[in-house]
Amino acid sequence: MPNDTPDLDLDRPSSGRIYDYWLGGTNNYAIDREFAEKQLALAPEIREAVRENRAFLRRAVRFAVESGIRQFVDLGSGLPTQGNVHEVADEVAPGATRVVYVDHEPVAHAHARILLEDTADPERHRALWGDFFDGPRLWERVVAEGIDPGEPICLLTVALLHLMPPESDPATPMAFYRDQLAPGSLLVLSHACLDTDDEAAKDAFGRIRDDYGKRTAVKASPMRSRAEITEFFGGLELIDPGLVWLPEWRPDEPYTGDVTRTRAVAGVARVPSPPE
Ligand SMILES: C[S@@+](CC[C@H](N)C(=O)[O-])C[C@H]1O[C@@H](n2cnc3c(N)ncnc32)[C@H](O)[C@@H]1O
Repeated sequence: MPNDTPDLDLDRPSSGRIYDYWLGGTNNYAIDREFAEKQLALAPEIREAVRENRAFLRRAVRFAVESGIRQFVDLGSGLPTQGNVHEVADEVAPGATRVVYVDHEPVAHAHARILLEDTADPERHRALWGDFFDGPRLWERVVAEGIDPGEPICLLTVALLHLMPPESDPATPMAFYRDQLAPGSLLVLSHACLDTDDEAAKDAFGRIRDDYGKRTAVKASPMRSRAEITEFFGGLELIDPGLVWLPEWRPDEPYTGDVTRTRAVAGVARVPSPPE
């Protein structure tokens, strides 16, 4: 994939633009809003879920910078919204961090570029139009943007891996990306999860997934269990508190709602140093 701004696909709703609408953003089109509203009618808790997902992302990025990490690669970064990775990172370590955003959605990519052009130091943070499944080819481009693979990296795959075609194999690119990470790196991940006895929710999300499969450019994978989601960490040790519901990951303040209604789990794992 070159990094020119690609053509818009306005015949189908797009997951990035739908997500933007749920977050209260304006970078979406009528086709996305109509689809997003239908999904909200099935599961109104989605709005809270996406807000909690962004809040998790911000806490995880802050944690990474406070742990000394200065490089970030955000795969499936979505449309820029409040509290983007580079904003949180720059707040904690002004001028010291480098972020590469990657998304395959044209509007997400175009907006990320525009947003970064407006930053004080546009060379430090970059946006790539790229596909998660490109593995080595994508990583080469990430490195060409100034990410040093010899130094710790915080790799983010936040609310990405449940948006993959059912027949695809996200485990293989994940294993490739994990292998590129130097000791001390962090892998930050969140993923839709329905580990609950709520049969109505299972039914609603089953219908949402089917709709995604039929209408959007990005298909939704079958719902994964916690055990299956844990496998994406490839045996890396999860940092306390492990893989938990979104609001349970190192919250700034206690969450008063039902955590299972955020319908997604999140975790952060660290790449260990090799044995001496
Ligand atoms: C639900 S949004 C999540 C955005 C952001 N990571 C967050 O959690 O707030 C998922 C994003 O992943 C992108 N995406 C889906 N499949 C992708 C792929 N194969 N390669 C790159 N991006 C992808 C979509 O375009 C969308 O912008």
